[in-house]
Amino acid sequence: MTNTIFPIDLMKHYETPFYYYDLELLKATLHEMQSCIKGMPYKVHYAVKANANPRILHEIKEAGLSIDCVSGGEIVAALAAGFKGDTIAFAGVGKTDNEISLGINHDIFCFNVESLPELEVINEIAATKGKVANVALRVNPNIDAHTHKYITTGLSENKFGINLELLDAAVDKALSLPDVNLIGLHFHIGSQLLDFTPYKMLCERINELQDHFESRGITFKAINVGGGLGIDYVNPAQNPIPDFKGYFDTFKQNLKLRPGQELHFELGRAIVGQCGSLITRVLYVKKGTTRNFVIVDAGMTDLIRPALYQAHHVAENITSTANETAQYDIVGPICESSDKFASDETLPETHRGDLLAFRSAGAYGEVMAMRYNCRQLPQSHFSRE
Ligand code: LLP
Repeated sequence: MTNTIFPIDLMKHYETPFYYYDLELLKATLHEMQSCIKGMPYKVHYAVKANANPRILHEIKEAGLSIDCVSGGEIVAALAAGFKGDTIAFAGVGKTDNEISLGINHDIFCFNVESLPELEVINEIAATKGKVANVALRVNPNIDAHTHKYITTGLSENKFGINLELLDAAVDKALSLPDVNLIGLHFHIGSQLLDFTPYKMLCERINELQDHFESRGITFKAINVGGGLGIDYVNPAQNPIPDFKGYFDTFKQNLKLRPGQELHFELGRAIVGQCGSLITRVLYVKKGTTRNFVIVDAGMTDLIRPALYQAHHVAENITSTANETAQYDIVGPICESSDKFASDETLPETHRGDLLAFRSAGAYGEVMAMRYNCRQLPQSHFSRE
């Protein structure tokens, strides 16, 4: 049992469901990550999409990270948390004119550009403001990250990025436009990667591309390899901090950076995933003919990952003192049969009123919550209020 990490006496009085964030773990995670890149020309942009809770953003800003945004709303959230414009990488296949304007007004570090029409629009909007916008071209490196089909992004049939065959023309176009400044190439091959082989393949692809462009007399100020480092959803208590060393070493050993060149990363899940849990109260324990259902007050509206990606979040009964265990299906109150957190989960004998924690919910949890069924959004609490 690992429930000592939760302040249960306090939690019993909070309205459920709520997200609980262990800020000490977040701090330790950030510390470990930074110690792995010390002395390297590496910059980590935190991917706001993973968790935009203002308190979390504040902690990450205090640690000195840069930031990766995918919408105007995320840029506003980042600025409100104190991130400076020149640390913002702005990605996304469908940036609106207003969002592009916002980015240019704040002199952001870089737009990660996904298509030629987008490049032209950024150039036009920058010209009307008398500015030059920094851009990187997002390249689709055609590498299979072997992750869930909804979160793999580097294969050629994806909507993301510019295909390799079209890259030369895109680079020429970017260099020819007067109001954009091409600073680099951007890549992202997928999310929740625990095997580093696809990253090694990515490094090899980038080396080839850099050789190719160098032979054309073109070098880049920055290379951005996106995010995707995975976390241990199976044993969160044993592995609360991801393998940053293995991840960064893969790039140190395989990617040939040019003199003065910076390497940028956009990590989301690896930074915030393990520090958050969704805490929910057991409403009813319902005995079926073959199954026992634990019906909780959190639903897919609060944590959609199980319904959307068939993801499994370890569930712990954090208030039970029972010695006996039993198998339960854990379901929420939403009128959808996909509103199910787990099948045959082993829990201590569970009763109405018990609190359950769904672990590893710090990334793509609270931020993906919705109000279906006119439900309230979940609250958040912190190890330091
Ligand atoms: N950079 C780009 C261009 C991305 O598309 C993503 C994630 C990231 C960085 C951050 O990836 P991370 O380090 O967090 O893996 N909702 C899904 C994950 C979607 C990821 C989308 N892109 C989930 O709950 O698993």
